[in-house]
Amino acid sequence: MRLYDAMKPALFALPPETAHRATHSLLRAVQHTRVEDALACRYAVDDARLGVNVLGESFPNPIGVAAGFDKNAEIPSVLAALGFGHVEVGGVTAERQPGNPRPRMFRLPEDEAIINRMGFNNHGADAVGERLNAGEFPDVPVGINIGKSKSTPLEEAAEDYRYTYERVADAGDYFVVNVSSPNTPGLRELQNREALERILGALRGAGASPLLVKFSPDLPEPAIEEALAVIDDLDLDGVVATNTTTERPASLRSPNQAERGGLSGKPIENRATKMIRFVARRTDVPVIGVGGVSDAEGAYEKIRAGASLVQLYTALVYEGPSVARDINRGLLDLLERDGFDSAEAAVGVDL
Ligand code: FNR
Repeated sequence: MRLYDAMKPALFALPPETAHRATHSLLRAVQHTRVEDALACRYAVDDARLGVNVLGESFPNPIGVAAGFDKNAEIPSVLAALGFGHVEVGGVTAERQPGNPRPRMFRLPEDEAIINRMGFNNHGADAVGERLNAGEFPDVPVGINIGKSKSTPLEEAAEDYRYTYERVADAGDYFVVNVSSPNTPGLRELQNREALERILGALRGAGASPLLVKFSPDLPEPAIEEALAVIDDLDLDGVVATNTTTERPASLRSPNQAERGGLSGKPIENRATKMIRFVARRTDVPVIGVGGVSDAEGAYEKIRAGASLVQLYTALVYEGPSVARDINRGLLDLLERDGFDSAEAAVGVDL
């Protein structure tokens, strides 16, 4: 039995946000100590076949932590020790924000899912920028997810994103414009062509590179095509697909499906993979695939559908700290089974 299987009932007896904070504090307490080294020995899978060169960086393996888990960039190093090949910190906004009233995070255990309406609670660009600039960096690439402050009107969004970018510019290995969170009113309207041109143009003008955009899984295909045209025009570097959905698939069983917010985890897995394939077919830029991945088969499916890198959040809650190791080990078996000599060789073979 895994240690996490023994701990899970106690963690799940706590409200989800309390459990998250407890886990986060524990990880923070061991960061940069010998325990971190011990974690790396236990969880990091060191195998050149897993390495990915993309976005001008060298990733030791394709599995990363999705945005939202380390909103304030406090634990990237210990997350790398758990075997993740990159960490996307944030969402960071220009202003410090408390987020929505609690409760705002809900488990759907029967569905291996989460619904959240956090609303970009974070310490703000000044504080996160300072922390990032002062911090000891992990050996793996760190991406920075940038959101819009709630109080900033949509028309002024470009300036808001740019303010944050300038505070974190020196610390990020890549930057993600998040216009797809369902929990900031009106945010997803910024996925239209004109708004994207303004925001992405401002960030490009400020020197942001590599610059990626994160899409909602609820974006209809014509809107994705439009957004991809902007990415092409502005010569952007990649796409993250996908964020959480506001839809509620009929398959959901948990009573918590009635909560408002974005759904993540197993129920969005196929939908996210479908979007990755759609995007990868239409563009040459790298795709970071995210949504419902909890095992090696799921990560492999996203890679074969065109994802150069894969991220997860919800599976950390349901599978625990060994999830990256288990996926990386399983990926090696799957690559060998199918005769690929590296993870990179399998990217997009199912297109
Ligand atoms: C998120 N996610 C998210 N995404 C983002 O771009 N910026 C953010 O600040 C957050 N915050 C956040 C908080 C919580 C509590 C959750 C559960 C999720 C979305 C996340 O990065 C990812 O896109 C989805 O959760 C889908 O992946 P999983 O969870 O199914 O692996």
